[in-house]
Amino acid sequence: MTTHHLKLNLQDETATERLAQKLASTILQDHASAPVQSDQAAAVIHLSGDLGAGKTTFARAFLRQCGVTGRIKSPTFALLEAYNVSSLNFYHIDFYRFSDPREWADAGFRDLFQPDSVVLIEWPEKADGTLPTADVLIQLDDHDPGRIAVLEARTPRGTRWLNKLQTNP
Ligand SMILES: Nc1ncnc2c1ncn2[C@@H]1O[C@H](COP(=O)(O)OP(=O)(O)OP(=O)(O)O)[C@@H](O)[C@H]1O
Ligand SMILES: [Mg+2]
Repeated sequence: MTTHHLKLNLQDETATERLAQKLASTILQDHASAPVQSDQAAAVIHLSGDLGAGKTTFARAFLRQCGVTGRIKSPTFALLEAYNVSSLNFYHIDFYRFSDPREWADAGFRDLFQPDSVVLIEWPEKADGTLPTADVLIQLDDHDPGRIAVLEARTPRGTRWLNKLQTNP
């Protein structure tokens, strides 16, 4: 069966981190199994949910799993943190303080979306209409004491990732 949608119960912070690690491994495997094509779109994950929902927690665990070492800062103030691991560029963006969509063009954000880029975006709704299509949207919501995560694929590649996640829990 094809999975476009996954709903998961994340009981604690560790569960959020495990989900992030699994998605990261899936995406890395994808990249390892086929050479990056010059016309390929960047891998894009949108992270939505209220303040404190766990978006940065997810992004940190994802980046660690991808091989990022050293401190992983929340991009809340800088808007963007960039990392390079072997042949891939990772961008962690937080649009919480973003107010004018024109800032998007002025800051040159479009240039980040290269075939060898993996882009994680917190608060994507604040830059609505200016972002390229996400492969997967992740919505995190409070579900005392943990969180509920809803993952939705928006591209064939995103669907493939969710299928792998589901068959490899
Ligand atoms: N599944 C979970 N269950 C309970 N607590 C969690 C879970 N996942 C993460 N947390 C906790 O929730 C808090 C989330 O903080 P985090 O900075 O990741 O949120 P955020 O969504 O990035 O917020 P912001 O919108 O302010 O950037 C952390 O204290 C983390 O330990
Ligand atoms: Mg955050």
